[in-house]
Amino acid sequence: MEIRWLGHSAFEIISDEGIKILIDPFISNNPACTIPVEEIDADIICITHGHSDHFGDAMEIANKSGALILTNHEISLFLNEQGIEAIGMNIGGSVSAKGIKFTMLDAKHSSSIDFTDEVLSGGCPASFLITLEDGTKVFHAGDTGLFSDLEKVIGKLYKPDIAMVPIGDRFTMGPFEGALATMWLSPKMVIPMHYNTFPAIAQDPAIFSNFVKQLAPEVEVLILNPLESCAPEIVKEE
Ligand code: NI
Ligand code: MN
Repeated sequence: MEIRWLGHSAFEIISDEGIKILIDPFISNNPACTIPVEEIDADIICITHGHSDHFGDAMEIANKSGALILTNHEISLFLNEQGIEAIGMNIGGSVSAKGIKFTMLDAKHSSSIDFTDEVLSGGCPASFLITLEDGTKVFHAGDTGLFSDLEKVIGKLYKPDIAMVPIGDRFTMGPFEGALATMWLSPKMVIPMHYNTFPAIAQDPAIFSNFVKQLAPEVEVLILNPLESCAPEIVKEE
């Protein structure tokens, strides 16, 4: 598996079988992403909620690449109205596509479709647990504040191997809450996201890293630069 951070909450995951998954593909208006949207393609696109910094270029990329879009029911209806096929889901449900399982889970945030002339309902905000072909579980927390199901449901029941958590503060958790969420999720590795895209969410990721060292020293913190990739090796406990 290869994970590339495209800045903000946008990630590209390429599975061992070569399936390309994009999460929250905010590319063309993303100050942290310096590659043109034309260079991005996907097999599957996950959209956690309706805000423009997450919905991003989903329509353009899907139109060009024929990618399957997975998102909540309300955003899937909006996409269908735009002539784009999307699979609607809701919190707690899973969809399998191309050998990969996508489970939509909770996030505490809001989800309006905020980039149209009139603000539209974007359903409930979500996170995604992605179970790859080999069973490796990647959790993308979306935009969220702290809530206890990060521990009680997502950490204890779904047991992610790798977690992406927001640390930018103001619109989501900050570095301390992100580290607490990391302790609760108890993954093997954590990648901070949703920071340093705009001045309002400026953060030093080393502060997050230090909190994780105190709260959950067994978790490896992967701090990526925008457009940087990593190929984490997950050792499975049998
Ligand atoms: Ni948001
Ligand atoms: Mn956001």
